[in-house]
Amino acid sequence: MMQPRHFISLHDISSDEFRDLITRAIALKNNRNPDFQPLKGKVLAMIFEKSSTRTRVSFEAGMAQLGGSALFLSPRDTQLGRGEPLSDSAKVISSMVDCIMLRTHDHATVTTFAEHSSVPVINALTDLLHPCQLLADMQTYFELRGDIAGKTVTWVGDGNNMCHSYINAAISLDFKLNIAAPNNYLPEASVLEPAAERVQLFDNPEDAAKNSDLIVTDVWASMGQEEEQQKRELAFKGFQVTAKVMAQANDDALFMHCLPAHRDEEVAAEVMDGSQSVVFVEAENRLHAQKALLEFLIRD
Ligand code: CP
Ligand code: NVA
Repeated sequence: MMQPRHFISLHDISSDEFRDLITRAIALKNNRNPDFQPLKGKVLAMIFEKSSTRTRVSFEAGMAQLGGSALFLSPRDTQLGRGEPLSDSAKVISSMVDCIMLRTHDHATVTTFAEHSSVPVINALTDLLHPCQLLADMQTYFELRGDIAGKTVTWVGDGNNMCHSYINAAISLDFKLNIAAPNNYLPEASVLEPAAERVQLFDNPEDAAKNSDLIVTDVWASMGQEEEQQKRELAFKGFQVTAKVMAQANDDALFMHCLPAHRDEEVAAEVMDGSQSVVFVEAENRLHAQKALLEFLIRD
């Protein structure tokens, strides 16, 4: 069996391919032609172990707009939730559809699934990575400010799946990444090490934000960490993106958040709803960026 092309991490695409996807996403956004149906008859299966608004709607709407369709599969209603081996499920589902998207807890669930799938597998978030969100974030930056190469991005908060994907993007698109995270919540060393020369760690967001072109944050407790909420609120005190943090950055700096956001927790409401915030452009771009990705992966 010829190995299909998967999108599990940003390292699965080259820097040129990343830039091409961004260019294509911007073109698709600006040219909504209902007769353009390159994925006519194609089916995307979407497996969600965790909740989602943006990811589900953008993939489902995106497939429909490209002429194809999408199936929502929850482990609760499929045999996946009753213990059918991932390898068997991957073989069966991939024999019937053209692409499979998974959102899971364990990253290994997606990689194992991909090993046994005869069609492209897309990582729509695991505990380790969220590469689809970076396609949209980077599209947003390129659209509004141009190429991000040589710029400085500041990540504030948890060294989580989003932070990990920012580290991968820094390597791929050649930007500097400042990370302000509490000591016990640093990104994983295995993700950090390959980017060591372009990542700098800080213990407070004000210092990290200096001379930055983009400030990004995410929730303090990710999906699956709900019972740690209180403990994390204490640990992340002082790591909110406030107007003072934004004031340290360059005047034309943007603010991004993958959403859903908790106003006045990880981000002050005035920043989230302020003039530098592009969170809703970023959210809409999930649709355009993933349409470019689907077109790229689902080839005859
Ligand atoms: N940003 C993001 O992935 O949102 P959802 O959890 O709503 O899909
Ligand atoms: N870090 C968050 C991102 C949600 C899109 C989570 O994993 O819950």
